[in-house]
Amino acid sequence: MNVFVVGNGAREHAICVKLAQNPRITKIFAAPGNAGTAAIAENVEVKSDDIPGLIQAITSRLVHLVVIGPETPLARGLAENLLMRGMEVFGPTSAAAHIEASKAFAKDFMHRHGIPAPSSVTFSNYDDALDYLKSSVFPLVIKADGLSQGKGVIIAENIEQARAALDYIMAQKAFGEAGNSVVIEEFLSGREVSAFAFADAHSTSPVVAACDYKRIFDGNKGPNTGGMGSYSPPEFFTPELGKVVSENIMDPVIRHMHDEHRPYKGILYGGLMLTPQGPKVLEFNARFGDPETQVILPRLETDLLSIMQAISNNQLSRLRIDWSQDACVGVVMASGGYPGKYQTGFPVNGLDDVDCDIMVFHAGTSLDDDGRIVTSGGRVVTVVAKASTLEQAREKVYDNIRRISFKDCYYRKDIALIGQA
Ligand code: AMP
Ligand code: GLY
Repeated sequence: MNVFVVGNGAREHAICVKLAQNPRITKIFAAPGNAGTAAIAENVEVKSDDIPGLIQAITSRLVHLVVIGPETPLARGLAENLLMRGMEVFGPTSAAAHIEASKAFAKDFMHRHGIPAPSSVTFSNYDDALDYLKSSVFPLVIKADGLSQGKGVIIAENIEQARAALDYIMAQKAFGEAGNSVVIEEFLSGREVSAFAFADAHSTSPVVAACDYKRIFDGNKGPNTGGMGSYSPPEFFTPELGKVVSENIMDPVIRHMHDEHRPYKGILYGGLMLTPQGPKVLEFNARFGDPETQVILPRLETDLLSIMQAISNNQLSRLRIDWSQDACVGVVMASGGYPGKYQTGFPVNGLDDVDCDIMVFHAGTSLDDDGRIVTSGGRVVTVVAKASTLEQAREKVYDNIRRISFKDCYYRKDIALIGQA
């Protein structure tokens, strides 16, 4: 079988590595891929948001399965375009991925079906939103409706901050069209966790959980990033909690999406807040998380290709999905300055000096003219260790990460040591 993986992050490298373990797979393509995927796949120079380019690249090759990593091609309808051509695809159609691409839709869907979520109101008119804020109690959370690369969420402590957030999203259009509507949401406090379930149109797999660290600095300080590290399983995520998440969140979503003619197939990712009243949904994503994928896929004992094919055939309930009890810790090495301005093009040293069981998933890397691996993005690699305890995995990852270096490299020192924000 030939598999085509769309995306170029560490998430997609981790997916390629997992798929490459299957002897049924003869060839993997990665579009656009990175220096990591280049070692196990053929990189295809097409950006992951170029839908016509991807369709052309995929249909002109012998491809049996397409795996769509990031949200943008899902929201832009790559899956249905390929399904229409008779292809096997892992990743939901745009109608189903709407649960991520429109927070207003997701909130309305959850309120309609009694799926636990913070209370919220959606506005598409600036003045109405401002009037509402003037009579509100703070803190409140203001969210751009559409995709905004994790940056469209602002916590406002008072009316001044709320007005500034509204201006930024709706008037200045900081996130473009994504800010045509806003969701104004009740602020919840508690522990956050990312919960994942594979899903076909009718059923879901038991939930697997991970924690990610969004802030750039130790102690959960500084600006938000795409994610600076993660670990799985979270020590507090009990099997009972997993059952509650399946029964109250994952299963009803899949059932009602089907009833609303948006059958959901792929992996469903709930960003959850654990409150005294139980887990509540802050957001849904229609894809694997990054950096969570880098710490959950190494724990997956069931063959990933078989899972993807079972989902495609709506046979997921026939498959048992096993996760290892081992713990994984992943630490992201970033270019100095990220998430602000940073320089690239620096050689990455020491990649061969890590222990043989350490996994290094590439994101912002490329090959220079001499075939050397150089930095090409903000988040450069995720270094992952697996061990029988979380503490051992953490020690192992930090022992190894010191052997890898590039100019101005930066990573957090407290992943899996403290709870995330
Ligand atoms: P989201 O993209 O909706 O997951 O939001 C990004 C981050 O904002 C979350 O990971 C939370 O840390 C925070 N957040 C979002 N919604 C809420 C809320 N209702 N209450 C408190 N924090 C929130
Ligand atoms: N870990 C955050 C995300 O994948 O959106």
